[in-house]
Amino acid sequence: MRSAVTETGSAEETAALAADLARELTPGDVVLVSGDLGAGKSTFVRGALRELGVTGPVTSPTFTISRRYHAGGRDLSHLDLYRLGDLAAEDPSLLEDEVGGERIAFVEWPEVGDAWAEEHGRVAARVTLEHAGGDRRVVTVERP
Ligand SMILES: Nc1ncnc2c1ncn2[C@@H]1O[C@H](COP(=O)(O)OP(=O)(O)OP(=O)(O)O)[C@@H](O)[C@H]1O
Ligand SMILES: [Mg+2]
Repeated sequence: MRSAVTETGSAEETAALAADLARELTPGDVVLVSGDLGAGKSTFVRGALRELGVTGPVTSPTFTISRRYHAGGRDLSHLDLYRLGDLAAEDPSLLEDEVGGERIAFVEWPEVGDAWAEEHGRVAARVTLEHAGGDRRVVTVERP
């Protein structure tokens, strides 16, 4: 396990850190992104997706659970399990194609999914963002 801890001072710095990680990802990878409300999870995922070639808007998929992208010949997805609730219990196949296979997936609130993302994809990194006052965030990237 490699663990890197970086303190960022702006959303741009957090996005740049995400871009560094994105360059190392390969098809089938899953990145789990944890942290409190407003810690910068979506900012991090946006930075990674930009690096992977997504040019359009990247907005938080809180209400849709998942958004898919295709860029640079790759299938990508951005999940936010915050409101997953009973949805998956009702329909376990709901997220089946969103993680795994050749897709590179980024998952916000992975803990709400009760290890679902870990079971369906190969975890390439666990990212944790913590508020550190004002615009400062402590970003921990753990790679198995
Ligand atoms: N160092 C920083 N890193 C990341 N975001 C920052 C930083 N400083 C300020 N911000 C701001 O904090 C906010 C983070 O919002 P973001 O939507 O990325 O958080 P989130 O963790 O996805 O929240 P949610 O739990 O609601 O999904 C943005 O408005 C961003 O500009
Ligand atoms: Mg978010």
